[in-house]
Amino acid sequence: MEAYEVTGGAKIRGTVRISGAKNAVLPMLAATLLVDRPCEIIDAPDLRDVTVMTQILERLGAKVSIGKDQDGKRTLVVDARGLQTHEVPESLMRQMRSSIFLMGPLLGRLGKVRVSYPGGCAIGPRPIDLHLSSLCALGVAIEERGGYINARTNGLLGTEIHLDFPSVGATENTMMAAVTAKGTTIIRNAAKEPEIVDLQNFLNAVGAKIRGAGLDVIRIEGTQNLNGAKHQAIPDRIETGTFMVAACITGGEVIIENCIQEHVEAVIAKLQEVGAHIEEAGGHRIFVSGPSRIKAIDFKTLPYPGFPTDMQPQVMSLMSLAAGTSVITETIFENRFNQAEELRRMGANIKTEGRTAVIKGVNRLSGARVAASDLRSGAALVLAGLAAEGKTVVEGCHHIDRGYEELESKLNLLGATVRRITVNGS
Ligand code: UD1
Repeated sequence: MEAYEVTGGAKIRGTVRISGAKNAVLPMLAATLLVDRPCEIIDAPDLRDVTVMTQILERLGAKVSIGKDQDGKRTLVVDARGLQTHEVPESLMRQMRSSIFLMGPLLGRLGKVRVSYPGGCAIGPRPIDLHLSSLCALGVAIEERGGYINARTNGLLGTEIHLDFPSVGATENTMMAAVTAKGTTIIRNAAKEPEIVDLQNFLNAVGAKIRGAGLDVIRIEGTQNLNGAKHQAIPDRIETGTFMVAACITGGEVIIENCIQEHVEAVIAKLQEVGAHIEEAGGHRIFVSGPSRIKAIDFKTLPYPGFPTDMQPQVMSLMSLAAGTSVITETIFENRFNQAEELRRMGANIKTEGRTAVIKGVNRLSGARVAASDLRSGAALVLAGLAAEGKTVVEGCHHIDRGYEELESKLNLLGATVRRITVNGS
């Protein structure tokens, strides 16, 4: 089993380049199935989830090629002209929750889709009722049997959909299904995350007629005229936030390149409360200088533009070393404090009850053998390891590999000591 071995104590310093956003690229890759021309996605990160998605596209009959653009950025070209089947292989589907995104595009292109229930991070029950009810509203008949979802339509029809909760995935799936629907679809209480705006930009580049992404109401005029397109994915705001916390937890100084400050304002506001100095450094760069003394803060995760749930575990690691007591309220997922028990092994003082965590800051964390059980809790443990005394072994590297491109080499370039090692299962 692979693990990260993190030797704590170094203040990280230097410049790091942020990769393209996994959560923007995944729905875009699914959306390429709507189009029977090649589509190019620029700055697609080399991550396991992205690889699984491209494998699914290939199994469905698309051709995928990996290349570089003139600036050396990694590109993926998907040519879905040869799309052959509407059945998504179960083995691949189970590896990634985002495979549910395939429903909208396959219904749009073929009028039918068969998927199994998706897999993904162990962060509580993640129902897909909003995805399914929105597709039904667009004229899809859905049958759920034996762990499979069979969906069919005789023609998608635009309609008004009010989401009970601004689910990111349900908003994206509905947008993709509505692209070729007859008439106009209006999504109310839509999620407003930057990845949704990026998906709108990609879909409009291929010929869709979508307005309003980034606001509560998204309007999609159906069209059949779709073309190939080239689109550059936005930078990953969660990777950006993770490196900001790395600077804060080690008391280091980092210039973060290729990031969009507006996408991380909620995280910046909280890290400034913690005592960090953060300023725009021009040219899509942010300068972060960690505090000499970490102040305790309270915060609540919320849909964008609120504080992102995907940054909650990393900031919990930071609060473990704060002067004072912090309270974190997780409102998006039910079971997202997996890292708390592992942080306790490192000496943190954290109590969790339901959706609340109370963290009494300690003076030091000590290296220990800990286990990542999901992507962001894994990142949180690596961050804790950077600040801990001695060596921390973070098992479950594969979770971290789902969402961070070259995490160890990026941290090592900043002066940290992180090694990928093989350990025996515990
Ligand atoms: C996306 C992100 C994930 C992030 C999350 C919240 C991707 C690939 N993943 O996940 O990293 O943590 O947004 O910002 O973009 N819900 C329902 N029914 C549904 C759908 C969702 O009840 O049909 C609930 C979920 O259980 C959860 C909440 O809504 O409690 C938020 O989920 P959602 O916004 O859909 O997150 P994802 O799209 O899965």
